[in-house]
Amino acid sequence: MKLLVTGGAGFIGSNFIAYMVQKYPEYEIVNVDALTYCGNADNLAVLEETARYRFVQGRIEDKSFIMDLFEKERFDIVVNFAAESHVDRSLTEPGRFLITNVLGTESLLEASRKYGVKRYHQISTDEVYGDLPLHESAMKFSEDSPICPSSPYAVSKASADLLALAYHRSFDLPVTISRCSNNYGPYQFPEKFIPLMIGRAERNQKIPIYGDGQNVRDWLYVEDHCSAIDMILHQGRCGEIYNIGGCNEYSNLQTASVILEKLQKPESLLTFVRDRSGHDRRYAINPAKIESELGWKPSYTFAEGIDATLQWYRTHQAWLEERLNGEYQAYFAATYPGL
Ligand code: NAD
Ligand code: DAU
Repeated sequence: MKLLVTGGAGFIGSNFIAYMVQKYPEYEIVNVDALTYCGNADNLAVLEETARYRFVQGRIEDKSFIMDLFEKERFDIVVNFAAESHVDRSLTEPGRFLITNVLGTESLLEASRKYGVKRYHQISTDEVYGDLPLHESAMKFSEDSPICPSSPYAVSKASADLLALAYHRSFDLPVTISRCSNNYGPYQFPEKFIPLMIGRAERNQKIPIYGDGQNVRDWLYVEDHCSAIDMILHQGRCGEIYNIGGCNEYSNLQTASVILEKLQKPESLLTFVRDRSGHDRRYAINPAKIESELGWKPSYTFAEGIDATLQWYRTHQAWLEERLNGEYQAYFAATYPGL
């Protein structure tokens, strides 16, 4: 079995490749990644000596590059993680999100159709559903919830999903889609809330909390996302969407408190800043379909996942330090003026 994994130098993609290489010793994996500001091929340095893993630098929206690669490699399975993934950046540069997330997906779908891949899996997000009210705990996103994206990022992901479904319906391409809630864990770029907090708390720097800090996210440890994708690839039904989530709903202030307490840092580091424009209030996944149809269950509780994450960042300080330098400094200053 030969897999193309795109975006495998990013956070979830690199965790997924490591998971698959370990679980399926007979699979060959090609990782295509553009190495944007958040991509880092060294995340998978341990696989350098593994002959059945290869890294190829390139952009998914570059059609001639993608077609040549498919012609040469004849992939069985495509898993598309590659994306511009940060909501805040989509508010300042929406066009970049459309190019990678929509046109890049189209390029991969077209190549998958031409070369007859056996499965095309689109990594999507719960953000395509928009948000839920804060105090209606019974309301959660199911696969039938209306598509109602709030940010340019979410719109680009929703558009890619619709395109993938159209390739299934119009061309019979064997497509599956997964929509996961917020991930956390090793190798997450420190623009995202949890690693941003860890990096700043450990340096005794102020931590920005948007708005009133009451927005709720439904957190999932990244390895549990990987196991869900694995199950969908092997047992999922084509043309279907699977929501993935661990039912760990916490407000941002609650999440911040847990992390500060574990790091033994004071809550006075938390600093309220101007709210994110269009900030989704609450996400909550109903994972009933993937649990009942495929038997998936997360194996990490929130407390276990946070401990594993803190331990990883503690033992990978050089990795974090490298990410916090260069482009990140300018990004941080522009996003959090005065902090
Ligand atoms: P990330 O930003 O850490 O990684 C994205 C990777 O894609 C990077 O390695 C980057 O270099 C690469 N990339 C960007 N543009 C590219 C292009 N044009 N061509 C090729 N490669 C390109 O993102 P992540 O958090 O690992 O997210 C991965 C996927 O999972 C995304 O599709 C995202 O929408 C989805 N997702 C993320 C979460 C989350 O909580 N992080 C939750 C649900 C779904
Ligand atoms: O739900 C899945 C989505 O989760 C993925 O599709 C996205 O790729 C991923 O980035 C993530 O989106 P969020 O916007 O929810 O994640 P982020 O880490 O940016 O923010 C989490 C919450 O924390 C959100 O309510 C905004 C808040 N926040 C974030 C940052 C960066 C702050 O209060 N301060 C901050 O500095």
